[in-house]
Amino acid sequence: MEYLDRIFHGDCEDVLKGLPDDSIDLIFTSPPYADQRQRTYGGIKPDQYVDWFMPKADQFFRVLKPSGTFVLNIKERAVNGERHIYVIELILEMRRRGWLWTEEFMWHKKNSYPGKWPNRFRDNWERLIQFNKRRKFNMYQEAVMVPVGDWASGRLANLSETDRTRDESRVGSGFGKNISNWVGRDMVYPNNVIHMATESSNKRHSAVFPLPLPTWFVKLFSQPGDTVLDPFIGSGTTAVAALSLGRRYVGIDTNKEYVRLSEERLADVQARMPGIAERKAKYSEEVVQGESGGTAQPSRSGRVRE
Ligand SMILES: C[S@@+](CC[C@H](N)C(=O)[O-])C[C@H]1O[C@@H](n2cnc3c(N)ncnc32)[C@H](O)[C@@H]1O
Repeated sequence: MEYLDRIFHGDCEDVLKGLPDDSIDLIFTSPPYADQRQRTYGGIKPDQYVDWFMPKADQFFRVLKPSGTFVLNIKERAVNGERHIYVIELILEMRRRGWLWTEEFMWHKKNSYPGKWPNRFRDNWERLIQFNKRRKFNMYQEAVMVPVGDWASGRLANLSETDRTRDESRVGSGFGKNISNWVGRDMVYPNNVIHMATESSNKRHSAVFPLPLPTWFVKLFSQPGDTVLDPFIGSGTTAVAALSLGRRYVGIDTNKEYVRLSEERLADVQARMPGIAERKAKYSEEVVQGESGGTAQPSRSGRVRE
């Protein structure tokens, strides 16, 4: 089936059965969190979360290229006064099924407001868990370098003797630990804490990514022409980031209204992109038949770039 640059309506587990093995460079997604937002898009009970997620994750594993990366945005909720362990259980089960738990990024939500709870403070961060199929995967670190900023006048201006000593044994790269290597540079690599405000302007979906979040990961783990999948696409933010950066996209959502919303946002981006006049949009009514018998339909306005 033709799957590039399309938003599919259906359960991602079924739709993905129509995609070839090793076809996706980056999977970036935020699934429904356990037992939350039930009225908007069907929460799953925390105790059943891993069982619900794993058949989908098996499809993610199959469609992801060996050089690809899967980034999962998730956060465990508190149940009966303590943090539930379904995210921890999920990581363990992913490892059992062959995934490598390569890294974890923290998304610090910059724009939260004060609050008061009896036994905890405001939850102000989320996990972005990175899984890979292989130890060697594509990563384009230069694409997300940041200005050296305050480091230049602070820490880098006052180096100790240890800072000037290379410590090969501990980092292996021969570059990371010797801080004096960074003196005089304009750009440095970021760390694994991402400071970004949450998105509050989209009134038609309740859990929208801020566009800079998928944008950052699309730059880090893919190149122009690569394919980015979001199997829980919601309002289409990951696909918007991919399209804006010249990547191909695949999006899936069980909610028809969100599929439509994604299509509208993508059409908007396309209309504003240079060279769009030459790129003819194709419309398709193709029906995708999943192996389990579930039927998924690409939305009527599923555009295909040529
Ligand atoms: C957290 S939201 C994603 C929001 C998205 N990151 C954005 O920026 O708008 C999760 C989405 O997954 C969809 N969903 C739930 N179960 C699904 C399934 N089995 N397959 C595909 N989509 C599903 C929901 O309808 C919801 O829109």
